[in-house]
Amino acid sequence: MTESTPVTILGLGAMGAGLAAALLEAGHPVTVWNRTPEKADDLVARGAVRAATVADAVVASPLVIACLLDYSVMNTLLDPVSDTLSGRDLVNLTNGTPEHARTAAAWAEGHGIRYVDGGIMATPPLIGGPDAFILYSGSQAAFDPHQATLEHLGATRYLGDDPGLAPLYDLALLTAMYGMAAGVRHAQAMISEDRAAEFSSAYLTPWLQAMAGPIAAGAAADEEGSPLGMQAVGLANIAEGARGQGVPMALFAHLLTPMRDIVAAGHDDLLPPLIKEIANA
Ligand SMILES: NC(=O)c1ccc[n+]([C@@H]2O[C@H](COP(=O)([O-])OP(=O)(O)OC[C@H]3O[C@@H](n4cnc5c(N)ncnc54)[C@H](OP(=O)(O)O)[C@@H]3O)[C@@H](O)[C@H]2O)c1
Repeated sequence: MTESTPVTILGLGAMGAGLAAALLEAGHPVTVWNRTPEKADDLVARGAVRAATVADAVVASPLVIACLLDYSVMNTLLDPVSDTLSGRDLVNLTNGTPEHARTAAAWAEGHGIRYVDGGIMATPPLIGGPDAFILYSGSQAAFDPHQATLEHLGATRYLGDDPGLAPLYDLALLTAMYGMAAGVRHAQAMISEDRAAEFSSAYLTPWLQAMAGPIAAGAAADEEGSPLGMQAVGLANIAEGARGQGVPMALFAHLLTPMRDIVAAGHDDLLPPLIKEIANA
């Protein structure tokens, strides 16, 4: 496939619209379909073709990208047009589980459709920029010829022919992100409103950036560099300090894992009763 491979995008939500815009920007002929057709107006003004039906959209391109709310929506839309999709390549960037992806791949194979699953590791404004990357797995025969096209959306990371791998990595990465978001929310709740903006930009962001590598490498679980006894005292102080700031107990959830590790390792003598209570909850 060449740089100008025609591409169809099904779904123009926040993400699908961003994908379509990036491909238009890169010079690809883009056909779009969305349940709410007006969402295509801006893209049509920039050169996209609005398809009236899913079948019209599918027939327009050898590469069809689905970016919908969930697999149930995708199945409902694509099952009736399986004959039209046959012989084309389907890249599904809809969030789901490994089982969803494997079921969709089996359905596609049964209809002569080459299937690649994907997980978008970016928000819509990041699409097409240097910080976006997208996980792919499934048919390598479909992925390889479209890789250059897909690179316009974000760096491509092909994980292998098991279609469940991309959603598995996606969900694991999202788990880490939501854990980080919980910690950030807790941290921000400890700081008064008049200091919040400066705290976030000048301290929180650089701190998270510096810690991301060591945490991912397992530093927090490293008994030598970060002894659990030391962490027990630190966590107790974090919890007491947060309580002193009136931070709601519900925000402590992300601290449960390290607290439980400490209790399991027999360092719970260093935890005050309040923290033990949270850890054993
Ligand atoms: N936004 C992000 O930051 C982000 C990041 C990474 C991955 N993703 C993934 O990208 C996918 C799309 O997300 P999004 O942000 O674009 O969500 P969204 O803005 O809520 O868009 C959902 C899309 O699904 C369509 N849809 C929903 N129900 C439908 C139905 N019953 N029949 C037909 N179409 C239906 C919507 O059509 P209408 O416009 O007609 O409602 C819209 O095109 C999701 O799997 C999401 O997890 C999103």
